[in-house]
Amino acid sequence: MDTERGEVLNALNELLEAERAGARVAMETGRSIDARDLAALVDDIHKDEVRWCSMLMRTIKSLGATPSSETGAFYGKAMAIADLDDRLRFLNRGQAWVVRKLQVLIPRIADPSAREELNGMLQAHHHNIGRVEARYATGVPIQEVTAAQPQELPTPSDP
Ligand SMILES: [Fe+2]
Repeated sequence: MDTERGEVLNALNELLEAERAGARVAMETGRSIDARDLAALVDDIHKDEVRWCSMLMRTIKSLGATPSSETGAFYGKAMAIADLDDRLRFLNRGQAWVVRKLQVLIPRIADPSAREELNGMLQAHHHNIGRVEARYATGVPIQEVTAAQPQELPTPSDP
């Protein structure tokens, strides 16, 4: 396997594991949300993450490789955050990590249709990050803040 192809495949698998983690976090967090509009937003994020998992698996297969079946460590880190506001903020930081990874990866993708799909994933991540940020910007509490102990949030840099 040449180096370029190997690096592209590693990046695609890393993103796949991160999206799988994000999908699980969104699904399990959504179950605990009572506010209907927030539940709908988190459900949208879940559906998008599932969609990008499928696209990444398809892209990896099109390169003649086997997609990873792992779930990124981001899942465990996110679910360890009990407060839903904090967890959703952490999820958004994970989404921003995905954006940065895609910005580096996309120019390295030779196949135009794969590049287009990854660009779609990039735009959708920008969109969802904005939707979650907008909830904070308006001062509307995402979820009632519980009297949790202040906790050190793990960094989303290695999902
Ligand atoms: Fe994502």
